[in-house]
Amino acid sequence: MPELFAQPTTVLLTGATSGIGTQMLSQLIASGHKVIAVSRTASALPAEDGLTRYDCDLADPKAVEAMASALLAKYPDVRIIINNAGLQLPMRLDNPALATNMLIDEIAINVLAPTIIARAFMPQFTALSEPSAIVNISSGLAFFPKTTTALYCATKAAIHSLSQSMRYQSEGSQMRVIEAILPLVDTPMTKGRGTGKLPADTAARAIIAGIRKGHDEVYIGKAQLLRILGWLAPFIPRRILKAS
Ligand SMILES: NC(=O)c1ccc[n+]([C@@H]2O[C@H](COP(=O)([O-])OP(=O)(O)OC[C@H]3O[C@@H](n4cnc5c(N)ncnc54)[C@H](OP(=O)(O)O)[C@@H]3O)[C@@H](O)[C@H]2O)c1
Repeated sequence: MPELFAQPTTVLLTGATSGIGTQMLSQLIASGHKVIAVSRTASALPAEDGLTRYDCDLADPKAVEAMASALLAKYPDVRIIINNAGLQLPMRLDNPALATNMLIDEIAINVLAPTIIARAFMPQFTALSEPSAIVNISSGLAFFPKTTTALYCATKAAIHSLSQSMRYQSEGSQMRVIEAILPLVDTPMTKGRGTGKLPADTAARAIIAGIRKGHDEVYIGKAQLLRILGWLAPFIPRRILKAS
């Protein structure tokens, strides 16, 4: 199968306004790809050649539906989708004051939006005779949850499962489903917590390199170690991440 990113291509990238997404955006544009950046504040990104900005609140499923069908119709050359936008909320479920809307938003942004986007683009992608990919940005927390962000970890576990089912559903086509599994990365999402974080530009470079290789699962940085420890001695990552 030809390599993804072998030639300049058009990428739909969610969450390009911050953290890992900003780094992927600049690396993709620098490599000559076109990027359609989607987030609530995409239009605030500085205009540049190759960049299309599209404001969308991914917590609103109707807005996601409208965005996906508009982009599919207007940009039939999209070949790679990177579901990168994400929300991580600290929460304890034994706190009765925890607002239901927060729970709905976290699920909508992290799981429902990538599902709606897949439903819009998969018919086109699976019919193509050239390679295409849907890339879901996941986390080591999908496999070893921590105490403080219960629902976030559950959404990443859902993304892991969803990616696998999407892979089954696209068997026999040229479409790839790639899950990028990240360790702790230094971004606004993780501001003020954790140490030894992977720089966001390094994470972005590793995701793009992983997409190019076309592997189903791309373990990045310390997530590779987590995977090995998960095989050999799962109690170790379980204990470390529980308290992370
Ligand atoms: N940082 C880490 O340690 C880490 C580890 C593992 C996995 N990840 C995953 O990596 C991805 C990127 O994380 P990050 O750390 O770079 O996050 P970040 O700096 O907090 O950026 C989050 C991005 O998501 C967008 N977003 C948030 N809510 C949105 C909404 N309602 N509608 C549309 N877009 C929305 C934001 O754009 P707007 O504000 O413009 O809407 C922003 O561009 C996420 O999926 C995250 O779960 C991160």
